[in-house]
Amino acid sequence: MNTAQHDRLLIIDFGSQVTQLIARRLRELNVYCEIHPFNTVTDAFLADFAPKAVIFSGGPASVFADGAPMPPKCVFELGVPILGICYGQQVMMHLLGGKVDRGQGTAEFGRAYVTPAARQLALLEGWFAADREQVWMSHGDHVSQIAPGFEVYGTSPNAPFAVTADTDRNFYAVQFHPEVHHTPNGAKLYENFVRLAGFTGDWTMGAYREEAIARIRDQVGSGRVICALSGGVDSSVAAVLIHEAVGDQLICVYVDHGLMRKNESAEVVGMFREHYNLPLIHADESELFLGKLDGVSDPETKRKIIGGLFIEVFEKHAKAIGGADFLAQGTLYPDVIESVSFSGGPSVTIKSHHNVGGLPERMNMQLVEPLRELFKDEVRALGRELGLPPSFIGRHPFPGPGLAIRCPGEITRAKLDILREADAIYIDQIRRHGLYDDIWQAFVAILPVRTVGVMGDGRTYDYACALRAVTSVDGMTADYFPFSHDFLGETATRIINEVPGINRVTYDITSKPPGTIEWE
Ligand code: XMP
Repeated sequence: MNTAQHDRLLIIDFGSQVTQLIARRLRELNVYCEIHPFNTVTDAFLADFAPKAVIFSGGPASVFADGAPMPPKCVFELGVPILGICYGQQVMMHLLGGKVDRGQGTAEFGRAYVTPAARQLALLEGWFAADREQVWMSHGDHVSQIAPGFEVYGTSPNAPFAVTADTDRNFYAVQFHPEVHHTPNGAKLYENFVRLAGFTGDWTMGAYREEAIARIRDQVGSGRVICALSGGVDSSVAAVLIHEAVGDQLICVYVDHGLMRKNESAEVVGMFREHYNLPLIHADESELFLGKLDGVSDPETKRKIIGGLFIEVFEKHAKAIGGADFLAQGTLYPDVIESVSFSGGPSVTIKSHHNVGGLPERMNMQLVEPLRELFKDEVRALGRELGLPPSFIGRHPFPGPGLAIRCPGEITRAKLDILREADAIYIDQIRRHGLYDDIWQAFVAILPVRTVGVMGDGRTYDYACALRAVTSVDGMTADYFPFSHDFLGETATRIINEVPGINRVTYDITSKPPGTIEWE
């Protein structure tokens, strides 16, 4: 396994909603870790993975349930430090001779405060800023008797065994979730855990770059790779990395569907051709896409048309250059992680790229996915390492179907032109006010409605638009961004004055859920 040269930490997943956060906290500490569902962790797997430490995640199950998720017992014989979190703590006590009680009326959800016991524990070193520390609890069952060898190092009013440890065997167990935001100093516990486990923090993007390049060369040999470059951070970082590995054996295809923002295609194509000298086909297919979208207003139909055409066009250009052996994709680790589903066993949630799904089989290509082990923030760090401009790395996400889903109703060239101008002014305003990096995503949607206005002495009858700006961690949930009234007023005035065709500006204050980030 390519990452074997790093110290590796294994996270055994028992189905907690926040297992990924554990991995993120560890990666931030430059520790290489992988998440694996409990039922894929066999004795053989453990021998092969050879973890330097193990973490048991939380999970929704009860140790009393039929078929309750359990790790293989040999995990306790590896001789490596183990940290059990919430359900992971209960599993540990249950298997090592302690006692867990069913949570009958004793469930505990939300904030709690842990106070230290008199004796010291390396795991808690530097953790207590005051005489108690805020933590996040979320459990039904609870430990009523700790296993032989364990001692108590921290208690909370409802959890007498909030922090316990068997320091001889290096086993640690906490009832709360140190990985979540509501345990404000939780990162310190992970830092202490990996330090006491002997991790050296050898997982850096500089090292990863060298390894990834070697691995790509190994996989690709003298074969040919094609990459659908979208201008987004993931496909861009993947392309630059692969180009560094195999040079002109990589050809990128930038499919221009005519639904990009103002000047975007020229900027993306210019950057890759000029700065990176990367072989790039600029497939201007805007006539084709806009023609097929003519008269279409249903959101799902728009997406289907765009997705289908994308594959067709990409395939056409790939064939024109003589085909390829490999297809490069910017798949990230969150897309790859198998998460445990309690409705029907482990479920594999592998997202295929919405644009090129199905192509690898159709064209008989293998996948090259050099970002499969990385979280988004690590991809950005790798991008910086590869010299991509910071302004490019920090760009807001942009959806594959582009402006089509920001133009509810029928798409016309005239509406797209108006939308591009308004969007450019809005983003310019956000940058001028220094807000761009505080926002997950911001854009304008042009609404399928015209409204009456007065400008000078005349009556206008033009489009209304909506400004959207949200904060988010991963796009799954979002809150609207609290712009000042001054900012909104100034931006509305600029858009109405500078963009012919818009005479009314609204601000969308819907969160997700119940809304979505995009308008379609
Ligand atoms: P929603 O609108 O579902 O969007 O709240 C969540 C995030 O996903 C992006 N998005 C897409 N990205 N193809 C993409 O590549 C799509 O079809 C697509 N639809 C939404 C959206 O911009 C936001 O970041």
